[in-house]
This record gives sequence, structure tokens and C-alpha cells, in this order.
Amino acid sequence: MSDLKKIKDEFLKKFNEKLNLTEINKLKSDLFGKNGLISSQFKKIGLISENDRKKFASDLNIIKDELQGLIELKIKEIENAEINEKLENEKIDVTLPERNFVRGKIHPVSQTIDEISSIFSEIGFSIEEGPDVENEYNNFTALNTPYNHPARDMHDTFYLDEKKEKLLRTHTSPVQIRTMLKDKPPFKIIAPGRTYRSDSDQTHAPMFHQVEGLYIDKEINMGHLKGCLDYFIKEFFEVKKIKMRFRPSHFPFTEPSAEVDIGYEIRDGKIIIGEGEKWLEILGCGMVHPNVLKNVKVDPNEYQGYAFGIGIDRLAMLKYGINDLRAFFECDYRWLNHFGFDPLDVPTNYRGLSR
Ligand code: PHE
Repeated sequence: MSDLKKIKDEFLKKFNEKLNLTEINKLKSDLFGKNGLISSQFKKIGLISENDRKKFASDLNIIKDELQGLIELKIKEIENAEINEKLENEKIDVTLPERNFVRGKIHPVSQTIDEISSIFSEIGFSIEEGPDVENEYNNFTALNTPYNHPARDMHDTFYLDEKKEKLLRTHTSPVQIRTMLKDKPPFKIIAPGRTYRSDSDQTHAPMFHQVEGLYIDKEINMGHLKGCLDYFIKEFFEVKKIKMRFRPSHFPFTEPSAEVDIGYEIRDGKIIIGEGEKWLEILGCGMVHPNVLKNVKVDPNEYQGYAFGIGIDRLAMLKYGINDLRAFFECDYRWLNHFGFDPLDVPTNYRGLSR
């Protein structure tokens, strides 16, 4: 057997075994490397007798091309197989849900605002908003609270300029003015948002939340106000019965005015709403003062209605057993993790407000 045939047979024997890329590359250099078997045959050409030289060189070239072709093909095959295997192993189904991710929580105040909005929207209230930075007219004057009115001092206002024209709103009542100025009656709105007073202790924070309510139409009376608040408190606390009392009070922008307390008691360290001998003030309300209606070009002989302002943070504290108001605004992640709500669990009247 000629040397060339031997080389080829040897090669084919090895070549047909299952080879990986390193092994095939080794085979390649064994044949075609500097001192490889095929390369050495080329060096021999000059030594061969002239008669045989042509045929030998031609055979050698044929074998070289053949083996080289086989090797290149094999390398391609192995590389493709490797790529396919990699693709297969690294395949991910992007439509699958994530296995373990940390979700944020909804702050109890945001949750409470969502709950309140859901309850009032059930009975036809729409939602309005106003800016935190107000002018003194909307916050006081238009609300029947002129410059020297004592109620101005009671509000501990943060003024933003020396002329006392710009301020941080001390209540959400200016949204009543904004709403009535931009539209025609009837009005049936709530307006939740941030409010500010220079005051701070366990039950007062310089920034707190209120929700304003306003219902102006042709024959609205105090009975409607009571009915509305009774419905709201029961829905909010998810109870069938509620102890509620209207205490005569005074606000410049309502006449008559009342403050509403709800009854509660502490049993085994837990607060029970709607029973017991203790009272907690949660809102101010009344029939909108004719002067306020005049200020927004609504005829008080034709239209009247009620307004209320509820302290949101207080309600949230009561409902969710939080006893220090300041914790709401400290941004302690551990606290939020404990008292916060699942972001996917949006409160609605149908699905339950706080489950
Ligand atoms: N704005 C009042 C307050 O902050 C609450 C209130 C609103 C009272 C609407 C009556 C009517 O104390």
C-alpha cells in the first residue's frame, strides 16, 4: 500500500470516530501542520524519480484537497451543533411570569385615598384636583374668610411671600372655589390631596391629607349630607352599624356647620369602630354659605348644597391600626412593607376595599 493510501485510511479511521472541535483541530495539524503527514509528503516530491513524480504530486494534491474538504466540513458541522445546543439551552420564554421579584407596596394613605374615591364614585361624585400652592383668595377670601377673620390665625398658614398672597393650602376647600369657577352647577365632586399647617405632634403633621366633598344642586339639604356621610363611614370601615354624632361648630364657609365624631372603643388593644363610649372627630361639614356661592357666581336663591372636609390620615390610622401619624411620612421601608398594600390589589366596592 502506498504511503498516501495509508495516510488516508488512517485518517478516515480516526475521522469517523465522534470528534469534538479540539480533536478535529489536532487531526488537522497532524496532517497539514509544519511537520504534518501531508506536509512531509510535499517535501518528498523533489526526491521522487522524474517518471513517478507527476503522478505522485497529482495524487498528493487530490488527497490533500479531499482531506482538507472533509476536515473543514466537519469543523462547520461541529460549530453549528455547538451553536444550536447553546441556543437550545439558553432559550427563555419571555411570556412566563417572573419567579421571584420584590414588589413595592402602596402607602396606606394612597390606599385610603383610592378607597375613598371608589366609595364616593359609587354614588356619583367625580374627582377634582387643585394645586398645593394656592393664592390667599381661593384659600380664604372666596371662602368667606376675609383678612382679619380669626379663622385665618387658627390655620397656622405657611405663607410663601411677604405680601401673603401665595401660600401652601391649609385645607382642600379652595378646590370648591376652583371647581365652581370653571363650570356651571350642579356640582358633585370630591377633591383629595395634600394640605399644610405649621403644626406637629403625635396626631398633627405639618403636611397632611384631606378630602373635600361638595354637592351643589337645586334642593339639597342637611338630610342629604347626613345620609351621604353615614353611607361613607359604613362603607369605609366595612361595618353595618355606625355611631356617629353631629356637633354644632363653626366654619366661615358653611352655615350651619358641624363637626362629625364617630364612636369607638379599645378592646384587647384593638380599636373597634362604631361602638363604645369614646368619640373621635373625623370631619368638618355644613351647608355651603350663600356668600361663597355669590363669590363663584352661583345664585344662592336657586342653588344650595353641602360641603365636607375629611382628615384622610386619621381615617387611615383608625382603619389600619396605626397609632403614630408621623410614621406615615418617615419613609421607613420596613414600616411600609408591614403596613403597605399589594399594588395589584386595587380597591373597588365590588371586590372589597381593603382585602
Ligand atoms: N376646610 C375645613 C377644615 O379644614 C373642613 C370643612 C370643609 C368644613 C368643608 C366644612 C366644609 O377644617
